[in-house]
Amino acid sequence: MRAAVLGGGPGGLYFAVSLKLRNPAHDIVVIERNRPGDTFGWGVVLSDETRDNLAENDSVSAEAIRQSFAYWDDIAVYYRGTVVRSGGHGFCGISRKRLLNILQERAAALGVELRFETEAKDPAEYADYDLIVGADGVNSRVRAAHADVFKPDIDVRACKYIWLGTHQKFDDAFTFLFEETEHGWIWAHAYQFDADTATFIVECSEATWRNFGFDRMSSEETIATCEKVFARNLGGNALMSNAKHLRGSAWLNFNRVLCERWSCRNIVLLGDAAATAHFSVGSGSKLAMESAIALANYIHTEPDLESAFRRYEDERRLEVLRLQNAARNSTEWFEDIERYFHLDPVQFNYSLLTRSQRISHENLRQRDPAWLAGAEKWFEKQATGHSPNAARPPMFVPFRVRGVELANRVCVSPMAQYRAVDGIPNDWHFVHYAERAKGGAGLVFTEMTCVTPQGRISPGCTGLYSDEHERAWKRLVDFVHAETEAKIAIQLGHSGLKGSTQLGWEEPDAPLLEGNWETIGPSCVAWSSNNPAPREMTRADMAAVRDAFVRAAEMADRAGFDWLELHYAHGYLMSSFITPLTNRRTDAYGGSLENRMRFPLEVVHAVRNVWPDEKPISVRISAHDWVGPAGIQPQDAVLISRMLAEHGVDLVDVSAGQTSVGAKPVYGRMFQTPFSDRIRNESGIATLAVGNIYEPDHVNSILMAGRADLVCLARPHLADPYWTLHAAADLRYEGVPWPKPYRAGRDQLYRLKARAEAMTGKV
Ligand SMILES: Cc1cc2nc3c(=O)[nH]c(=O)nc-3n(C[C@H](O)[C@H](O)[C@H](O)COP(=O)(O)OP(=O)(O)OC[C@H]3O[C@@H](n4cnc5c(N)ncnc54)[C@H](O)[C@@H]3O)c2cc1C
Ligand SMILES: Cc1cc2nc3c(=O)[nH]c(=O)nc-3n(C[C@H](O)[C@H](O)[C@H](O)COP(=O)(O)O)c2cc1C
Repeated sequence: MRAAVLGGGPGGLYFAVSLKLRNPAHDIVVIERNRPGDTFGWGVVLSDETRDNLAENDSVSAEAIRQSFAYWDDIAVYYRGTVVRSGGHGFCGISRKRLLNILQERAAALGVELRFETEAKDPAEYADYDLIVGADGVNSRVRAAHADVFKPDIDVRACKYIWLGTHQKFDDAFTFLFEETEHGWIWAHAYQFDADTATFIVECSEATWRNFGFDRMSSEETIATCEKVFARNLGGNALMSNAKHLRGSAWLNFNRVLCERWSCRNIVLLGDAAATAHFSVGSGSKLAMESAIALANYIHTEPDLESAFRRYEDERRLEVLRLQNAARNSTEWFEDIERYFHLDPVQFNYSLLTRSQRISHENLRQRDPAWLAGAEKWFEKQATGHSPNAARPPMFVPFRVRGVELANRVCVSPMAQYRAVDGIPNDWHFVHYAERAKGGAGLVFTEMTCVTPQGRISPGCTGLYSDEHERAWKRLVDFVHAETEAKIAIQLGHSGLKGSTQLGWEEPDAPLLEGNWETIGPSCVAWSSNNPAPREMTRADMAAVRDAFVRAAEMADRAGFDWLELHYAHGYLMSSFITPLTNRRTDAYGGSLENRMRFPLEVVHAVRNVWPDEKPISVRISAHDWVGPAGIQPQDAVLISRMLAEHGVDLVDVSAGQTSVGAKPVYGRMFQTPFSDRIRNESGIATLAVGNIYEPDHVNSILMAGRADLVCLARPHLADPYWTLHAAADLRYEGVPWPKPYRAGRDQLYRLKARAEAMTGKV
């Protein structure tokens, strides 16, 4: 086969080597515009796993690469006059130039033709080759030539960066340097890659970049300015650029590249040309080289190029998406970094280390147990004011708000049971909530309990609008207080335009088959074409609903509830006032966000007036309508949370969606937690995170990084009422009390866990 590889970066060269190894008869040429020694950039990082893959593919180049590695184990973070250092991270780096030279030599030795200083203008020039590989990097011409087939999606990210080098030693740790300057924050990612040179990537926001005047500076002026900014960590060493071949000052914005297809006839994309991963997760070269192995492999084993390309794309796309997901989290962390500059150095460091969500609390424990124990002790001290002797997982650190102390930070999220008749909680509710309170959670929320019969979602919803309701709830609350350590919160709500619908396991949000009641809303906007439009509320309707919330709050206090949550999420009445999707009013209660918040805030104000000072109020909101700029977006949720805090709300319970049938939510592990993070760290109000959080490790990571103060789990508590007790056993933490009658069960469980740990080496 005659193959033309356009681009002699790590991807192109390694592909040529890999294909030639599989069949020396192939005639392969690599076309590279630069000279052999030219390179933009300094060092690259490769993980243990990648090194193993390379060794298996070609032991000769792998050995040469291994001999050129610089290794380090620690990450050091310089921030606000402190250095926080953690270990066990295990990286190694190699100079990009050295890597390319090794691959060039290896390719030449195997008989690959290397044509340097040759510009590939168009893949059509190579039409007489059987195979054309577009390995020409992030600005790929091959991709551009067939953009109609590859359908690239290029996302230009917000931060500015420049890839420099230095002879200053950073040989003991991968180092992050954060500097606050008169022009804004600017930071560097620095790591050693050979005996006397380190990569030094400088990054900042566009605003800071302009404030510095970098947009008007030459390369020399940029370098001189960066040397001044980072002088205290450069020990008098210069910063150097090797991007002389680039025009201008060599500052870049990262381009995230995705392509709908990776092949077109006999042309295939490889490496950065097909997909990029942000440099802060250090995986671009890994992706390119591992994809090169897969491509060579399938071309060798498959009967034709078409099926080889299909298998190559199937295998590699998944890995690319996984990495791009982590890379996106990491990119966004740096883009949103201003949000985290108020954090204490310990928490800032933890947030940085876990930014991609690939590294969790327990990963950090494995990497550096002493450092993590120190961080856990810090967490407890700032929460309780006491310095603990031994560390405990963050989820088991108590949380205090007003006069209420929760024993731990796990909450049973509100979940409608649809089992009530006339709003009255019955034996089902008693057993259901009592079980979850026995299960160890610090706080148990009731389901949305409705303030009027009309405000119920379905005929099965619980209410709090009669003495009978109050008595039934009091029986449960008394049991929880007498027999468990849990606190119990009532969630009060009104269904609004989503009322008069079927039970959760029937057709949710669809009108009842018979016995429907009139619904009300801010405007005559129906939930869906299947639902009747609600009646637009008058001022008198609003006063009546407000008074119903107040009456229910008074009953909840008399019933003994410790905590009150107002349900302002998921498209129900209050939520439908907040989102412009359903609030089309032209009076003082519609239009601007301030106007749309007016009625919900009136209700908060009235409820806060009757709810005891020592008891907290949280409000659950939908932080994202998932419909783009037409609806609520996370930046609006920050403003909403600030307004709630100004009206005496103690915590925001950060949910999302269910406000429009046209929503396009992006699901995933902990998918709503970024909204909680944003609200907590931009508005300063305490938050509860919720949504696809199901492992103790998730909970600890969220809390320790300061992404929320409390964590709600819903479905996991349907599957396991004793989720918290079991999480404690998994973590071998013994500080959570079990109900006395169950202690024999606890002892056996801990014994079995210890035995399993002894046998397998893990819990
Ligand atoms: C600041 C920064 C830091 C990074 N740090 C790391 C890291 O630590 N670890 C890591 O794994 N990755 C890192 N990367 C990513 C890494 O550099 C790339 O992902 C990797 O080089 C991709 O390899 P490639 O072969 O696909 O593309 P490239 O390395 O970009 O190679 C493409 C080659 O094609 C040539 N070329 C382009 N167009 C033409 C043309 N028309 N004709 C002829 N030749 C052409 C170019 O000269 C180049 O040599 C970093 C990237 C940046 C920007
Ligand atoms: C059966 C069920 C009923 C729910 N009822 C309510 C409710 O009454 N009030 C509310 O705010 N959220 C309600 N939710 C949403 C949950 O509280 C939670 O936000 C959501 O399920 C995501 O969390 P999870 O991934 O831990 O399940 C309900 C969820 C489920 C599964």
